[in-house]
Amino acid sequence: MEFKELAKERYSVRSYKDTKLTKEQIDRLLEVSNLAPTGKNNQPHRIYVLQSEEALEKINELTQCAFHAPVVFMFTYNLDEDWKNFREEGIRSGIEDVSIVACHVMFEAQEMGLGTCWVNAYPNTAVEQAFNIPDDEKSVLLMPIGYPADDSVPSERHELKKSLDKIVRYL
Ligand SMILES: Cc1cc2nc3c(=O)[nH]c(=O)nc-3n(C[C@H](O)[C@H](O)[C@H](O)COP(=O)(O)O)c2cc1C
Repeated sequence: MEFKELAKERYSVRSYKDTKLTKEQIDRLLEVSNLAPTGKNNQPHRIYVLQSEEALEKINELTQCAFHAPVVFMFTYNLDEDWKNFREEGIRSGIEDVSIVACHVMFEAQEMGLGTCWVNAYPNTAVEQAFNIPDDEKSVLLMPIGYPADDSVPSERHELKKSLDKIVRYL
């Protein structure tokens, strides 16, 4: 599908069918994730695929925003590996790296007829502890993935786009 159509179709899915994803589907999402650019190609990101009953039960206990999807990807980055800008204190690429990787997964999922939701409102530290994430990694987002439930619809916020003249400045 043409990218603009794909982007138009996508919305945050917060209600999923129970249908499990196949290993091939998960592998395809992971392969596309691996095509993403990262700062200096450092690839500091890590992806945790929460798919076992135990892991899914745990994440749904820790946050309402896993939405009982059949699989949840958790994206983290290694604090030692992301690119740091020596010209500017505090500027580093970890969150950007994770975000572009996660975008690749989000749009590939859309292309595959799956729904996703980008979730950052969760208790990061509690989730990191629950899944024994190493101390040198920081979690950035969760992404529930699955077939949208038959009654899934975009939220009212989905349509609320600012006009470009409020966003773009030509210099
Ligand atoms: C950085 C970021 C964080 C988000 N965190 C959450 C979240 O924690 N829970 C949730 O339900 N949706 C979350 N969303 C989804 C947004 O609410 C949603 O993308 C926005 O309202 C526009 O709706 P749409 O995705 O349907 O177009 C997040 C989106 C982004 C980009």
